[in-house]
Amino acid sequence: MRMTDFASLLVPDRGQKARPIHLVDKNSFEGWLKKRPVEDRALLAAHRFDGKTQHAFAIFPRGNEFEVAAAVKDSKKLSPWCLAALAEKLPEGTYKLADGDPDLAGLGWLLAQHRFDAYRSKAKDDRGPRVLVSQEPAKIEPVVKLAEATALVRDLVDTPAADLGPAELEKAAADLANRSGAQLRVTSGAELAEGYPLIAAVGGAATPERAPRLIELEWGKPDDPRIALVGKGVCFDSGGLDLKPAAWMRIMKKDMGGAAHVLALAGLIIEAKLPVRLHLLIAAVENAVSGAAYRPGDVVKSRKGLFVEVDNTDAEGRLILADALAKAVESKPELIIDFATLTGAARTALGPDLPATFVNRDDLASDLESASREVDDPIWRLPLWEPYDEHLKSDIADMSHTSGNAMAGAIYAALFLQRFVPPEIPWAHIDTWAWRDPGKPGRPKGGDALGLRAVFAALEARYSRT
Ligand code: BES
Ligand code: ZN
Ligand code: ZN
Repeated sequence: MRMTDFASLLVPDRGQKARPIHLVDKNSFEGWLKKRPVEDRALLAAHRFDGKTQHAFAIFPRGNEFEVAAAVKDSKKLSPWCLAALAEKLPEGTYKLADGDPDLAGLGWLLAQHRFDAYRSKAKDDRGPRVLVSQEPAKIEPVVKLAEATALVRDLVDTPAADLGPAELEKAAADLANRSGAQLRVTSGAELAEGYPLIAAVGGAATPERAPRLIELEWGKPDDPRIALVGKGVCFDSGGLDLKPAAWMRIMKKDMGGAAHVLALAGLIIEAKLPVRLHLLIAAVENAVSGAAYRPGDVVKSRKGLFVEVDNTDAEGRLILADALAKAVESKPELIIDFATLTGAARTALGPDLPATFVNRDDLASDLESASREVDDPIWRLPLWEPYDEHLKSDIADMSHTSGNAMAGAIYAALFLQRFVPPEIPWAHIDTWAWRDPGKPGRPKGGDALGLRAVFAALEARYSRT
């Protein structure tokens, strides 16, 4: 995959020629307007630019050059996306903020220029780069890294399932291992069937090239605090024998979005050299249909030893995560975080923008929530409502993996996972959409990272050396 060269689009201010961008908001607009030359004021009046309409901007000619004014919600605290529409629309060239530094708003500037053109014979946008200069060179690199991590999630999710199966997820993890000196371990075949029966069962119908596997990566000093990241890597979710309706199946290439999030998160942790011993686990499968498919009513003995009766083969994500979580727990990490495109119910409850977050500790939940506000990457907590747990019962086995109940589907999925995580280990489960529709400035329709920056910020706050 060809990655956009983000580092060339956000650069230190070395006094290079740059078109000024004046950011105004509804409070600062009148005061700012008074100080503009008379011809600028006339132009703004003609365009009815009032400094209030989000993403509106105006251009002031200056000989054969120009300056820009753009309306943002709060010019004192820039949101990550407030420059995205500008970066999308302005012509090639170098720009700088007339006042202040872009900081996190650099992210939207960068991501607005990311393109997924692997499947176009001609690039969709042949404009040259829009470069933003920054007064604070130290803030550039972290923003570039966040843009790269987000773009990685988008590209992995957007790649059609035919070109991104379990083997390609393995390759993405191997690339990270090679870059960082991390150790990679992949379990498949007979060893998978023996050690991870749920992953093997769910992936059983796929063709041999798309065989299921558990991909693990270990990085960091053995004595540093141990954390585990677990991702749902369903490279295509047809629903299995309980086949999905066409409209839902249409976007199920994105069902490896959790895996893409934890891969990108691992990359951020490694690049920031956070003092942790990192254990990344990706359960990679295709939920396909064939004579070898697992069936409704099958009972599988999980890695943990619990017998699970399969109710609906479309609830495959929680099954593969259960074995991966059980493996993560065996090394006694001090924290486990999983990302998964786990339920349609989480979307019904919270809509497309808000990943549902389930946490077995209030202090961890509040750390995640405050980090999420800090970096403007929203998540929302839902309860691990204990009284519902009894509904995960089976007539013949230790448990079923669904409640057979149409309500609270995201909570039942989370309660199922909780059965595989002992209460003494702090754990957060993030049920994300990994998708955006409709698009917004800097965030086109398609794969997207949701909750990634929030979790990274929480981990940075918890583990930074400084
Ligand atoms: N991958 C889906 C969840 C999903 C569906 C995410 C649509 C985003 C959009 C998951 O594997 C699934 O199908 N879950 C079922 C569970 C049900 C059968 C208990 C669901 O949410 O409907
Ligand atoms: Zn499913
Ligand atoms: Zn799924």
